[in-house]
Amino acid sequence: METVVSGIRSTGKLHLGNYYGAIQNFVKMQNEFKCFFFIADLHSLTTHPTPTDLHGNVKQVLVEYLAAGIDPEKVTIYVQSDVPEIAELYLYMNMNAYLGELERSTSFKDKVRANPDNVNAGLLTYPVLMAADILIHKATKVPVGKDQEQHLEMARTFGNRFNRLYNHDYFPEPFAFNYSDNLVKIPGLDGKGKMGKSEGEANAVYLSDSPEVIRKKVMRAVTDSGPTAENQAKPAEIQNLFDLMKVVSAPDTLAHFDEQYNKCAIRYGDLKKQLAEDMVIATAPIRERIDAIANDAVYLRQVAKHGAIKARESAQKTIKDVREIIGFRGF
Ligand code: TRP
Repeated sequence: METVVSGIRSTGKLHLGNYYGAIQNFVKMQNEFKCFFFIADLHSLTTHPTPTDLHGNVKQVLVEYLAAGIDPEKVTIYVQSDVPEIAELYLYMNMNAYLGELERSTSFKDKVRANPDNVNAGLLTYPVLMAADILIHKATKVPVGKDQEQHLEMARTFGNRFNRLYNHDYFPEPFAFNYSDNLVKIPGLDGKGKMGKSEGEANAVYLSDSPEVIRKKVMRAVTDSGPTAENQAKPAEIQNLFDLMKVVSAPDTLAHFDEQYNKCAIRYGDLKKQLAEDMVIATAPIRERIDAIANDAVYLRQVAKHGAIKARESAQKTIKDVREIIGFRGF
């Protein structure tokens, strides 16, 4: 069975875009592949979080992924820093990564531009750590978005370079994986692009938002003054609301409002009310599980511990081989 690895950034609460875009992919994959999903807390050190923020973010991500359907009986879900073998492989891989190629990485250049005062070596070698995350389990499939393509290419480069240097066909090549070529894009509520945290709190609906908050956010979503001719094309902000409806509402609900729009009889207030209620219904079971799991310290500790044991079992096998291949041998 093919092995899957994906890292989840520990940057706080999840929104509907994360859920319908990424997590549903993971939930489907967990029935078909050997999956390792981990919370990338070592990566987050590049921005120096406080110990409290670091711990809180890791917990939140773990809770929300479990609540959203990642099943620790089916996959290995773990915290990156619980597996020291990853840090060891990262050290070895750093010897095969060249300054020039790391400096050319677009994500590095973006981060330097955004934070010119915090260009630390961890930022430069972010792709090496990511390669170690993947190679440690000899994964071949990595469910990530387009923005990670360059990082995956680097992971293949570092693995292949290791294989060539030691004349050992050891690491397989990892490739990006998604069920559909067109990843589901969930638009935000601001009438512009996709749902995202950086676009402001009101633009995204979070899995942990209460029904009141969801209703308030949706009612404030941007609309226009309505169609003026029958069957006219929808402007972006209206199309966005229909796209959200496509995800959370029943097909005949969507068809009803589509027809109203085409007849110039649409009332955006009604559409938003319906959209908000359907979002509340879609997220209710997840929200309930978030609350339950967040308060169950025993369960969380058990999941993290069990995940770390399983992940280390796999990681230790690789590290043992790698040490042997490199030439670290006992006397
Ligand atoms: N870089 C990824 C992101 O920003 C997170 C990540 C870290 C990751 N290590 C990984 C993803 C390994 C897949 C595999 O989303």
